[in-house]
Amino acid sequence: MTMPTLPTTGFNISKDQLLVALPVAVVAAAGGFFLSSYLNGRNCQKGQVNTCICKDSPKVVHSFDMEDIGTKAVYCRCWKSKKFPYCDGAHTKHNEETGDNVGPLIIKKRDA
Ligand code: FES
Repeated sequence: MTMPTLPTTGFNISKDQLLVALPVAVVAAAGGFFLSSYLNGRNCQKGQVNTCICKDSPKVVHSFDMEDIGTKAVYCRCWKSKKFPYCDGAHTKHNEETGDNVGPLIIKKRDA
């Protein structure tokens, strides 16, 4: 009486081949994971810069006439100021906490 044979897939790998292939697969998977994490971290569009100012508005826009600015105006670019759109120095705390380097936009007349 003959024993029934199991169907084969046609894919055979020796123990030596497995010992080489397994570390290569692990390194490739880890490399893919870290590359994906790195590329996702570079994508700035996922996070929001504005976390608290006029969130009910679809776009925050301010407009000033040059004649009304006076001799000097300091505008916030970090979106953390309680006096937005004017800078109140909140960027200093933000920079200390995050390692960022943002600062205000200063517009002034010459000799001011
Ligand atoms: S508070 Fe935002 S730039 Fe100064």
